[in-house]
Amino acid sequence: MENPFKFGTIVEEEYFTDRIEEVAYIRHFVESANHLILISPRRFGKSSVVAKALSQSGRKNITVNLQQVTSVADMSAKLLREFFKVHPLERIRHLIAHFRIIPTLSTNPLTGSMDVSFQPGVDASILLEDVMELIEKTHSREDRIIIVLDEFQEILDLDPRLDKKLRAIMQKQEHVNYILLGSQESMMTDIFERKKSPFYHFGEMMRLGKLPREDFHRYLSERLKPQFSDQCNELANRILNYTACHPYYSQQLAANVWNVSVLQPEKEDALEAAINHIVISHSLDYERLWANFKRTNKWILQSLAKNSALQTKEYPTSTIYSALKRMQKDGYVIYSDHYEIEDPFFKEWILRGI
Ligand SMILES: Nc1ncnc2c1ncn2[C@@H]1O[C@H](COP(=O)(O)OP(=O)(O)O)[C@@H](O)[C@H]1O
Ligand SMILES: [Mg+2]
Repeated sequence: MENPFKFGTIVEEEYFTDRIEEVAYIRHFVESANHLILISPRRFGKSSVVAKALSQSGRKNITVNLQQVTSVADMSAKLLREFFKVHPLERIRHLIAHFRIIPTLSTNPLTGSMDVSFQPGVDASILLEDVMELIEKTHSREDRIIIVLDEFQEILDLDPRLDKKLRAIMQKQEHVNYILLGSQESMMTDIFERKKSPFYHFGEMMRLGKLPREDFHRYLSERLKPQFSDQCNELANRILNYTACHPYYSQQLAANVWNVSVLQPEKEDALEAAINHIVISHSLDYERLWANFKRTNKWILQSLAKNSALQTKEYPTSTIYSALKRMQKDGYVIYSDHYEIEDPFFKEWILRGI
């Protein structure tokens, strides 16, 4: 039997659980003329929940992940490439002819999809304007398209005035709805809630939490059952206690527990063996990470790992607090109702070293 758990990619169909209200809420947006902003720490399930709502709605959509974009020209090329997946070139060729800068198009023989590139050195904001205008023109009020921009906070890094330019372009569009996803809470709130930001109050803001424990427990235990029979309930509980219900790490741990029980049936405690395996296989990365942390950060991470108070005579509270905020921004620490280390296996690695 194949491993019934999946992590690291967008999860769909039988790998996707719960989020019923969230999917319904996003669908409601997708069917209106409004824009949606969705925020959560990374790997909580934003991309998955949006993909689900979009596939249910049947609306035309394109997605570009700004983390995988290297410049404004590259962003324009990727938008156009995705657009070709929705609208075949033959039907929009006449519109491309109006581009001020004509892209080079070629069919990728391996994937069959269209590769798009622009000559280097051209004015990238013209490219972006032309691509966006094409998307707008191809659609209508009755047939809006949805553009999903994942890891949207990256616009601040891509080009210093990109937020202004992009907002000006969007201002003129009436046939496009946007779903903007981000995993850096502070940058995202800065973009959408700072009065002077071009994206101030651009759309409805929604935050995604962890998966509800009861549902996630049912999901895990049903899937563990073929391999663990009557132990599956307890095992699901132990997994969720260990990962604090984090969607990604829970699936990762469950997948490893499954592997241990199939490949090393002699192990008495599959969970312990799985944790050990994950910590050891990541230890090189953890060592590298750790070596680059400042002393204050190391102290904070150790305190969080031990669940001890974040108070010491050694550092002023303000220093601790700003270091904590910084680590939250970088994704090492997350806050739901308290601060915790994002990766439970990194936490384990830290505890083992104390
Ligand atoms: N609804 C869900 N049901 C089950 N697992 C999920 C769900 N949402 C997320 N996950 C787990 O979390 C991982 C990360 O999800 P993803 O959608 O890529 O998150 P994000 O876009 O927030 O980084 C998935 O690969 C999967 O293992
Ligand atoms: Mg994502």
